[in-house]
Amino acid sequence: MIHHEEWRPVAVWSHYWNMNSVAAVCAGLDCGSAVSARDSEEASKRPVWRISSDCFQSGSALKNCLPFDGDNNQSHEFICSDSVRLVQGTNRCSGRLEVKTNQSWSSVCEKDFDLQDAEVVCREISCGPPSVHQGALYGEAEAPVGSREFLCEGSESALLKCSSRKSSGRNSCSPGQAVGLTCSDNIRLVGEASRCAGRLEMIHHEEWRPVAVWSHYWDMNSVAAVCAKLDCGSAVSARDSKEASKRPVWRIRSDCFQSGSALKNCLPYDEISDQSLEFICSDSVRLVQGTNRCSGRLEVKTDQSWSSVCEKDFDLHYAEVVCREIGCGSPSVHQGALYGEAEAPVGSREFLCEGSESALLNCSSRKSSGRNSCSPGQAVGLTCSDNIRLVGEASRCAGRLEMKHQEEWRPVDVYYSYWNMNSVAAVCAGLDCGSAVSARDSEEASKRPVWRISSDCFQSGSALKNCLPFDGDNNQSHEFICSGLLVEPLIFLSSSTDGVSTGRKQGSELLIGSNFSIICSIRPQYEGGSFQLIFSTSNYTQNQTLPAVNHSALFLFSAAGHAHQGTYRCVYHVYVFSYNFSSISQPLNLTVSGKLMESIRKSSASVSASPTALIIRTGCRPAGPGETRSLDQKTTIMMKDPELKAA
Ligand SMILES: *[C@@H]1O[C@H](CO)[C@@H](O)[C@H](O)[C@H]1NC(C)=O
Ligand SMILES: *[C@@H]1O[C@H](CO)[C@@H](O)[C@H](O)[C@H]1NC(C)=O
Ligand SMILES: *[C@@H]1O[C@H](CO)[C@@H](O)[C@H](O)[C@H]1NC(C)=O
Ligand SMILES: *[C@@H]1O[C@H](CO)[C@@H](O)[C@H](O)[C@H]1NC(C)=O
Ligand SMILES: *[C@@H]1O[C@H](CO)[C@@H](O)[C@H](O)[C@H]1NC(C)=O
Ligand SMILES: *[C@@H]1O[C@H](CO)[C@@H](O)[C@H](O)[C@H]1NC(C)=O
Ligand SMILES: *[C@@H]1O[C@H](CO)[C@@H](O)[C@H](O)[C@H]1NC(C)=O
Ligand SMILES: *[C@@H]1O[C@H](CO)[C@@H](O)[C@H](O)[C@H]1NC(C)=O
Repeated sequence: MIHHEEWRPVAVWSHYWNMNSVAAVCAGLDCGSAVSARDSEEASKRPVWRISSDCFQSGSALKNCLPFDGDNNQSHEFICSDSVRLVQGTNRCSGRLEVKTNQSWSSVCEKDFDLQDAEVVCREISCGPPSVHQGALYGEAEAPVGSREFLCEGSESALLKCSSRKSSGRNSCSPGQAVGLTCSDNIRLVGEASRCAGRLEMIHHEEWRPVAVWSHYWDMNSVAAVCAKLDCGSAVSARDSKEASKRPVWRIRSDCFQSGSALKNCLPYDEISDQSLEFICSDSVRLVQGTNRCSGRLEVKTDQSWSSVCEKDFDLHYAEVVCREIGCGSPSVHQGALYGEAEAPVGSREFLCEGSESALLNCSSRKSSGRNSCSPGQAVGLTCSDNIRLVGEASRCAGRLEMKHQEEWRPVDVYYSYWNMNSVAAVCAGLDCGSAVSARDSEEASKRPVWRISSDCFQSGSALKNCLPFDGDNNQSHEFICSGLLVEPLIFLSSSTDGVSTGRKQGSELLIGSNFSIICSIRPQYEGGSFQLIFSTSNYTQNQTLPAVNHSALFLFSAAGHAHQGTYRCVYHVYVFSYNFSSISQPLNLTVSGKLMESIRKSSASVSASPTALIIRTGCRPAGPGETRSLDQKTTIMMKDPELKAA
C-alpha cells in the first residue's frame, strides 16, 4: 500500500481477513478472481502500514483506508487469477464468466466454451470441479464479444494456457448465451458409505485435505451449514475424530461455518495436525423453517429432489423414525401447516414405518396417490421432543441437567462453567418451565460419563437444541430450578344435584339452592403447602386459603345463589428449595339457575349473599385426572359428611 508516498507491506490488525478480503484486493487491482492468500514467511522486521480488516470490505474501502505506522515481520501474499473472473454469482465460485483479453473483460459465448474449459477455469480460481455451466444464469450481459474460442484439454492450470482460436464474432452470439459457471463445492464428506457422512475435507490449491478448526467453536449449526451445502438433509451429529498421526490439514476459522456460502469464501491455512472433523447428515430427511433443528416442516428426498409430506401419508410411527434419524428424541407434535405454507406436497411415496427403523428409507413404502389429493395446508410439520431434561426431583422443571446425544442421556458439564442465570433461563425456557429461579453444582462425588458442552449452548432455548456435546468424564453435574416447578392444580365442582365436574370452558351450571363444594387438588410433588380459592366476577374478587392436606382442600358452600356466579380458580402455594412457588388451575365458570323451590327459599333466605364458603374442610380425596365420579359416590361423600349436616 502507498501512503505518505511510501510503499510498504500491509499488516492487518487482527487476522480477520478471508477470501472476500482477497477478492476485494483483486477487484481493486482489476486482477480477476481471488485465488488464494497466505502469510508470507519473511523474518526481517520492517516498517509496515497497519490497517483494519474493515478496509477489505470492498475495493473502494481500501482506497478510503487510513493506515497506521507500524513495525512488523509479517506480510500477506495474495494471488488473483489475473485473466479470469466470475461476476454476479452468489459466492466466489459461481457467476458469469469473464475473460480478460487485450486489457478488457468480456463474457464468453456458450458455443466457444465446453466442459474441459470449465474444468480449467474452476481449477484456476481454486474452486471445486464445475457442476453447472449454462447461459444467462447470472444476469444478462452485453452480448459476448466472443473474440476467442477456447480449446482446453482440461488439465491446464489456467485458461490462457489453453490453446484458442479466433471465434466467429459478435454477430453470432446473443446476450443470453454468455457462459454462467458454477464450480462445485469445495468441501466433501469422505470415509463412509454415504456421501452425506464422514470426515470433512476441503479442496484448496487443488488439494483435498481434512479440515481442522481454529478454536473448538463449532456446533450443530456448523454441521447444518455443511449438510445444507452438500444438499444432505438435516444435521445429525458430529465429532472430532482423533487420528493418531499428524498430517497436512486445512485449518479454517469457525466463521467459515456460518453458512454454506461462507464455506466457499473461507480461507484455509496450511498446517500439520491430527485434528479432523467427522460430520453426519441425515441424507434423505430434513426439517425446514422450524425454530431449531428439531422442528419444522418435514421434507423427504426421493429421486434427488426434496418434497413435503402429506398429512394423510403420515402417522406416529413415521414421526418416530424421522425424529430418531435426525437425532432429536421422540416426536411431540405433528400437524399440518405449522411451519409455513409449502407447495402442495408431491407425496410421491407413502412410508409404512413400524417405528423402530433407524432411518426413513428403511421403512417399507409404496407409491402415493399424488399431488391432487393433498392441499398445501396439509404438509406435515413436525416437532421432535427436547434433547434436554431435568431429573432427580419431583418436578420435571427442577433437577440435574441431562442431555440426550447419540441416543444416550448423560449429565451435562460445561466447558469453563461459564453459565449464569441466563443459562438457567435458557434451560427453563427450552423446557417450557417458566423463568429461572436458581442453579447449583450438585454434590455428587462419583466420576461418570457426561456430555460436555460449550457455554454458548445456553444462549437461548433453541441454541441448546443446536448444541454439539463432546464425550467427557466428570464428577460434577448441575442442578437447575425453574419457576414452573409445580404442576397445574385441578379444580372440581361437587354439588348435590350435578355430581362432580371439573373446570370446563363452557362452564358448570348449578340449580339454585343446592349445596356445593369446590375441591382443589394437585398431583403429589411436595408435602404441605396451601390452596387459595379465588372467586371473581367482573367487579368483585375474593379469596380464601386452606392448608393442603393430602394434596387437596375442600371449600364447602351451601344454598347456591346468584352471588355464587362467577369464576373460581385454585392456586397452590408451597415453599421448597428456599423459594415460594405457586401454580394456578384452569378457571371454573359457575352459573346458578332454576326456580327457587319453596322449601329451600325459607332456609336460604338467611344465607348471606356473599359467596363465602359456609363450611370449610380439607383432606378429601378428590377424583384424580381422568377419573370421574358417579353421582352415587358423590352422594356418599355428602351423606358421610357430618359437618355439612351440622350446617
Ligand atoms: C516475528 O516477530 C515476533 C516478535 O516480534 C516473533 O515472535 C516471531 O517469531 C517472528 N516471526 C518470524 C516469522 O520471524
Ligand atoms: C487490442 O486492442 C487494440 C485497440 O483496441 C487493437 O488495435 C488490437 O488489434 C487488439 N488486439 C487484439 C489481439 O485483439
Ligand atoms: C437399514 O437397516 C439395516 C439393518 O437392519 C442397516 O444395516 C442399514 O444401514 C439401514 N439403512 C439405513 C438407510 O439406515
Ligand atoms: C472432582 O474431581 C476433582 C479433580 O478431578 C477434585 O478436585 C474434586 O474434589 C472432585 N469433586 C468431588 C465432589 O468429588
Ligand atoms: C344443604 O345443606 C343444608 C344444611 O346442611 C340442608 O338443610 C339442605 O337440605 C341442603 N340442601 C340440599 C339441596 O341438599
Ligand atoms: C357487581 O355488578 C353487578 C351488576 O353489574 C351488581 O348487581 C352487583 O351488586 C355488583 N357487586 C358488587 C360487589 O359491587
Ligand atoms: C386475597 O384476599 C386478601 C384479603 O382477604 C387480599 O389482601 C389479597 O389481595 C387477595 N388475593 C388475591 C389474589 O385476590
Ligand atoms: C390421606 O390419604 C390417605 C390415603 O389416601 C389416608 O389414609 C389418610 O387418612 C388421609 N389423611 C387425611 C388427613 O385425610
